[in-house]
Amino acid sequence: MTVVAIAHPNIALAKYWGKRPGAGNIPAVPSLSVTLAGLTTRTEVDLLPGTAEDRLTINGRTISCEPGGKTGNVFQELRELAKSEARFDVRSTNDFPTASGLASSASGFAALVVGCAAALGLDASTEQLALVGMRGSASAARSFFPDFAELVPGDDTVRVGPVPVAAGVDLRVVVAVTDEGPKALSSSEGMKLVARTSMFHEAWLAGAPRIYAAVREALGAGDFERLGPLVEESALAMHASCIAAGVVYFQPATLAAYATVRRLRDQGISAWATMDAGPHVKVVTRAGDVVAVVAALEATPGVLRTLVAAPGLGARVEA
Ligand code: DP6
Repeated sequence: MTVVAIAHPNIALAKYWGKRPGAGNIPAVPSLSVTLAGLTTRTEVDLLPGTAEDRLTINGRTISCEPGGKTGNVFQELRELAKSEARFDVRSTNDFPTASGLASSASGFAALVVGCAAALGLDASTEQLALVGMRGSASAARSFFPDFAELVPGDDTVRVGPVPVAAGVDLRVVVAVTDEGPKALSSSEGMKLVARTSMFHEAWLAGAPRIYAAVREALGAGDFERLGPLVEESALAMHASCIAAGVVYFQPATLAAYATVRRLRDQGISAWATMDAGPHVKVVTRAGDVVAVVAALEATPGVLRTLVAAPGLGARVEA
């Protein structure tokens, strides 16, 4: 029987950028995100009896899932956990731009893991499954949880789970889409290059844990005025380390959207910008300011359209 799994991307308020040396795709720094309702990956999974190879399509295009690659490793880890030899046939679709800095790999791997685990009848906790998702894409581990989630590397283990927030936090994210095409350089490749060649990489690794801890505290206290500047600092510090290595995700429309966000703040509107491995700008705001933020972004040269998201559900099997 076909299993259908649903997951949403997430946007990091405190960014993950950089990996621990060695295997396992373990982040070098702690991160914290909001899961986005309204942007959805829908993934169908069937088990393939009697075949030797897994199959994966994303938006109808066949994707390689050879052993040793990201997806191949995730499939293999699921088989080992379930003590199964089964092969998977996975068909995934996104209702938002794929591989463009809108975290489609996060929702993609979260839905894939939840769907494949259900197809195998695997009995595992959400945390266990999230750590399998991390092997595919570390940010995916956070999309297993609703609302706010964190991924925290420790000395010997990695912790992943929900983050407590104060009642009444009415955070919204407005995404300013600036480009419909795929990004030039994947986050994995970008991270490698930056770790190897950026003179600011060590500074990022040293500073990111402080920003993460402060973001966590501000959310716990429901202190939006403290949260916003930290969200901007995390993204700008990450991109400063990237730019020093020639890894530039900014486009003219990105800078125009940042200027719009600063102007909104001058007008007393709660708006702070963040950005990932792509040119889109994600604006963290409050429910009551969404209309003003959308209007200002849509009037910004180069912004193609906006998407509005509230905190959303974690990855799940469709009932
Ligand atoms: C900028 O999770 O896509 O979005 O683990 O190599 O697949 P891999 O990287 P990925 O990186 C996400 C980077 C980011 C920040 C974040 O989501 O924390």
